[in-house]
Amino acid sequence: MKVTVFGTGYVGLVQGAVLADVGHQVLCVDVDAAKVAALQAGQIPIHEPGLDKLVTSNHANGRLRFTTDAAQGVAHSEVIFLAVGTPPDEDGSADLQYVLAVARTIAQHMDGPRIVINKSTVPVGTADKVRAVIAEGLAARGASHGFDVVSNPEFLKEGAAVADCQRPDRIIIGTSNPASEARLRELYAPFNRNHDKIVVMDVKSAELTKYAANAMLATKISFMNEIANLAERLGANVEAVRRGIGSDPRIGYHFIYPGVGYGGSCFPKDVKALVRTAEEIGFDPLLLNAVEARNEAQRNVLFERISAFYDGQLQGKTIALWGLAFKPNTDDMREAPSRNLLESLWAAGARVQAYDPVAMQEAQRIYGQRNDLVLAADPEACLQGADCLAIVTEWQIFRAPDFGQLAQSLRDRMVFDGRNLYDPALVAGYGLGYVSIGRQPVP
Ligand code: UGA
Repeated sequence: MKVTVFGTGYVGLVQGAVLADVGHQVLCVDVDAAKVAALQAGQIPIHEPGLDKLVTSNHANGRLRFTTDAAQGVAHSEVIFLAVGTPPDEDGSADLQYVLAVARTIAQHMDGPRIVINKSTVPVGTADKVRAVIAEGLAARGASHGFDVVSNPEFLKEGAAVADCQRPDRIIIGTSNPASEARLRELYAPFNRNHDKIVVMDVKSAELTKYAANAMLATKISFMNEIANLAERLGANVEAVRRGIGSDPRIGYHFIYPGVGYGGSCFPKDVKALVRTAEEIGFDPLLLNAVEARNEAQRNVLFERISAFYDGQLQGKTIALWGLAFKPNTDDMREAPSRNLLESLWAAGARVQAYDPVAMQEAQRIYGQRNDLVLAADPEACLQGADCLAIVTEWQIFRAPDFGQLAQSLRDRMVFDGRNLYDPALVAGYGLGYVSIGRQPVP
């Protein structure tokens, strides 16, 4: 099948490459000429396991192509994915300018029927807006081609994007049009072989499903972070509580790890956007507001603990920081809790020596050259001359450090762990002070 994908960001590029890999003829369109040129030269703009190979091999065999030519994109296929960005507006609602611009472009160049598939995360009602924009564009040209707008949200996780896209838990198809449904079933047949993962529903429910999934996951995290705060103050151990409640299959072990708050390009943005959607229709989203508020507070917890240890006197201190990415296996620092910590430490007059396996270039891009930020060559170099260590990303490489060396390198022999990576008794055995999330210090 021929497929066009507008937008070569995370979602569009991964989806395009995965569809090409099963045999579809995919044309990816992006307005960013430099990005398109880089992709044509085999340079992948994001760090995502397996993506390099998938893009280069399918580009080489001609099934995955890239262009800036929107007209060619619209002409290429009857099936057009919208996978352009929906960044948050100042008020937290999703900015639809890119989605609607592509809709206008489609209307301008359509020469026959089209199925427009929304993959970007967009508020409930967006399919209707896209439909209206295309209808208006067609009317302006005096054209009357048939088209449908389908919601088909993406559920991939960064760092596991290719695998998630190749083996989805579910494929949501939001349409009331049987012909569109049939076409999407055909498109996704290679991913739907062992058991039926396709769930068909009306377009608004599909749009809401995406937000509901992310908001539910964000709620689990904020809930657990709240319990961690309680545990800490009540003399309990949140890790024991986590295991205790996770064993109930109605609760489950997934996504109940306390930490420094959720980050990334999805949860913070989507929870805020759902709050805005609710407010727009005059509904007060009590729970979602609390999820968001807990997360904002949680992002400061590690800084507060460090600051408390130094009695608020951080001027001239050097903090070693392990982890910059918002989670392991990605170089993404969007809404990363590391940024709150970095910025608070700098504001308090501290220097930071940071190490991250892949996100250091990204940190450099965001913050540029600064005297109070040193990017270290490896985790050990990061410790040299530091007063204490803070950990915000649970990369594998941080899981079993040489604690003896930590004790020697860190002037104040303190570790502030925002991801509960270590057994407190083990760390204490090396003469290190250890502050983690929702657990008691070892006396
Ligand atoms: C998330 C969802 O997991 C995907 O299903 C969804 O498709 C995607 O958003 C999206 O909307 O595009 P992602 O943002 O890549 O994926 O990251 P997650 O792995 O879900 O982690 C999000 C944040 O939650 C991270 O900051 C992570 O550290 C934090 N987290 C996760 C916790 O603090 N505790 C947990 O138990 C789990």
